Amino acid sequence: MDKLVIQGGRRLSGSVTASGSKNSSLPIIAATLLTGNGTFVLNNIPDLQDIKTFTQLLNHLGAETRFAGNTMEISTSNVKNVQAPYELVKKMRASIYVLGPMLARFGTARVSLPGGCAFGPRPIDLHLMAMEKLGAKITIETGYIDATAEGGKLRGAHIDFPISSVGATGNALMAAVLAEGTTTIGNAAMEPEIETLSLFLNAMGADIRGIGTTELEIHGVDTLKATEFDNIFDRIEAGTLLAAAAITGGEVTVNGVIPEQLKSVLKKFVQAGCSVQTTGNSVTLKSPETLIPTDVTAKPYPSFPTDMQAQWIALMTRAKGTSHITDKIYHERFNHIPELNRLGAHIEIRKNQAVVHGPRSLSGTKVMSTDLRASASLVLAGLVAEGTTEVLRVYHLDRGYEKIEAKLQSLGADIRREQYKEFE
Ligand code: EPZ
Repeated sequence: MDKLVIQGGRRLSGSVTASGSKNSSLPIIAATLLTGNGTFVLNNIPDLQDIKTFTQLLNHLGAETRFAGNTMEISTSNVKNVQAPYELVKKMRASIYVLGPMLARFGTARVSLPGGCAFGPRPIDLHLMAMEKLGAKITIETGYIDATAEGGKLRGAHIDFPISSVGATGNALMAAVLAEGTTTIGNAAMEPEIETLSLFLNAMGADIRGIGTTELEIHGVDTLKATEFDNIFDRIEAGTLLAAAAITGGEVTVNGVIPEQLKSVLKKFVQAGCSVQTTGNSVTLKSPETLIPTDVTAKPYPSFPTDMQAQWIALMTRAKGTSHITDKIYHERFNHIPELNRLGAHIEIRKNQAVVHGPRSLSGTKVMSTDLRASASLVLAGLVAEGTTEVLRVYHLDRGYEKIEAKLQSLGADIRREQYKEFE
């Protein structure tokens, strides 16, 4: 097993380029299941564990894939197997993304129910509601979803999501593009990753209108074709790297990211006293001597993203005063807090709100990762903690951050990866 060993106290400076977005790569890779007509060439795909896991699932279904230098080639012409087994789905919830495209192309799909995750139950009722609206018959037994399109083809419908769901919007889009007739989606997720999926589907020959808004209209088409596509950069990785600059009192430029996609986060950095300069595809952040305590509430895009909540809590341990971080999406996404408190932070949890009392000088020790963004927050704290911090079980981090220690080293951090054995 790997751990990251960090000597705190270095101010980060310099520039770094973000990797391709994990959360747009996954639905885009799933969407290649919609047609066997040609070979897809997907550029700027990050080399992450989640991508490897998803590729394993596609190979299991019969897809041929080749991944080199952040470009993935995929052909799904030989895909026949319409079953996504538990052994593969349990490794990553986003595997549910194969449901919509398989149902759209084959008229049937059998997908294992995904597990929960470290920060609470993560239901898929909205995914199933959308499929049923499009005419699928869904039964659940022995932990599997069995979906069949009546008459072998999905039919356009109106889908109204009671809450904004990235995954369910993605699945509904991928199911609707080949459905008979027109589908409208109300309260669709507006996250840049869903906007990117819509642009990718249209590049394949789909007809999606209202892209980038919460009201989408999809006119079903008969055929789609493979295409080449450039994936967007990862706005959450970029936000995490900017937080590393802010927490260490440094100055860093992150290239690749589109500032508009991080607008709510950049506004909060400015409120916290940072100076932020942007160009079309880069952000430069200079940290102030003293950080101002700044409240955030995580909500659907374009509000502050829940995937930056843990990182913001780590940052606020250094602010001069008390700040309140509320998560309206995942009410229990606070596993990082007990570990941050072991580093010397003083953070209380009140229902779905963290109250951070700062500034606190942190001192290094061994801390345990529990999920992807929690482990990122522990790395951020380690960068500023006195002495040595060891972040254990970094396989959580490797799911969503490509070569993170190399990026941080290039900015001046004293961080290295080591193997270790856990006591049984
Ligand atoms: C996506 O998860 C992201 N994952 C998550 O990022 C991110 O935290 C989340 O969106 C919110 O932005 C990927 O894109 C692979 P949701 P997803 O459906 O699609 C509830 C990371 O760190 N809900 O938008 O699963 C749900 O419980 C990961 O990269 C239902 O009730 O999130 C949550 O409270 C972690 N029923 C809210 O909706 C459903 O059928 C938003 O979830 C689906 C969701």
